[in-house]
Amino acid sequence: MQAQISTVLPKYLHQEEVVAQEYEDLIFSLPKENGWLASYLYKYQGFWHPVRHLQGIITCQRHFDAQDSDVFLITTPKSGTTWLKAILFTLMNRMQYPIAQDHLVLNKNPHDLVPFLEHILYADNQIPDLTSMNSPRLFATHIPFFSLPKSVQDSGCKVVYLCRNPKDTFVSMWQFTNKLRPQGMGTNSLGETFDKFCRGVSIAGPFWDHVLDYWKESKEKPPKVLFLKYEDMKERPNANLRRIAEFLGRPFSTEEEESGIVEGILKLCSFDTLSNLKINRTGKLSSGEENKAFFRQGKVGDWKNHLPIEMAQKLDMITEQKFSGSGLVL
Ligand code: A3P
Repeated sequence: MQAQISTVLPKYLHQEEVVAQEYEDLIFSLPKENGWLASYLYKYQGFWHPVRHLQGIITCQRHFDAQDSDVFLITTPKSGTTWLKAILFTLMNRMQYPIAQDHLVLNKNPHDLVPFLEHILYADNQIPDLTSMNSPRLFATHIPFFSLPKSVQDSGCKVVYLCRNPKDTFVSMWQFTNKLRPQGMGTNSLGETFDKFCRGVSIAGPFWDHVLDYWKESKEKPPKVLFLKYEDMKERPNANLRRIAEFLGRPFSTEEEESGIVEGILKLCSFDTLSNLKINRTGKLSSGEENKAFFRQGKVGDWKNHLPIEMAQKLDMITEQKFSGSGLVL
């Protein structure tokens, strides 16, 4: 398929799908629906993906080799990935980059510090050379559990999973995708996108299946998967940061605790700090999105300002049905 690449728009916004020849037969045989941005979402292994992410997933499944020391931040889109990227990067690199005025997080968007597997490293059918990455390597992804490269499931690597209540997730995703739609294309209506979200047709959706698969894995393999909720991170940031550090085998020492490192990391990575940085107000990612698109409200419960009560009730009902018997409440 022929691509019409513009350097201005984010790569996945092009009307024409850019599909590598070796994936054409597979991808064009999949069910598809209109996406939330300009192109389509394809249903692969039970989940919906834009074509660019999907090719990245398949390339990743074929070529990515996980190491026991790897750490993966896995999230549902719009659940606070940017925040957790900043936190994990700062936490894991705290010896090399102590909290200071010139910290990397203050000069680069978290997405440029922690790469996504499927739509950055393995995007555009490329197989990256990861040999120069220092161990432990830190990656991010939205890949559903059963689509992860086999080596991630089989190795001793660790997964930090983050999700968020579906009402705020939906509102955040609706606002985000409307912001990214090219001028002239108009915005997606609330009703239309709500219907898609409820049917599971959203990036890496169905939302509930994504969350539930990782929830079950976290219950079966607690040393491998740490399951976090955005709301809980907001409510108990200090306790959760310590929990993450312990999970990753890097607990804070007494000296670190006394120096106030927990508070330091949380302040450095807070919504107020990150959203007000020049780099995040004016910069762009290599994939084309404006950095500021990743910072909106950063609050729990903003759905109340956007969703009519019937929509909120419908999401609650689906959540109750889908999570019934699992012990998971969002
Ligand atoms: P809202 O749209 O509700 O404001 P993701 O990073 O997965 O794309 O998620 C984006 C959501 O996380 C947005 O939510 C954004 O404002 C919020 N966010 C970004 N940085 C944050 C931070 N440091 N602390 C809390 N929330 C943050």
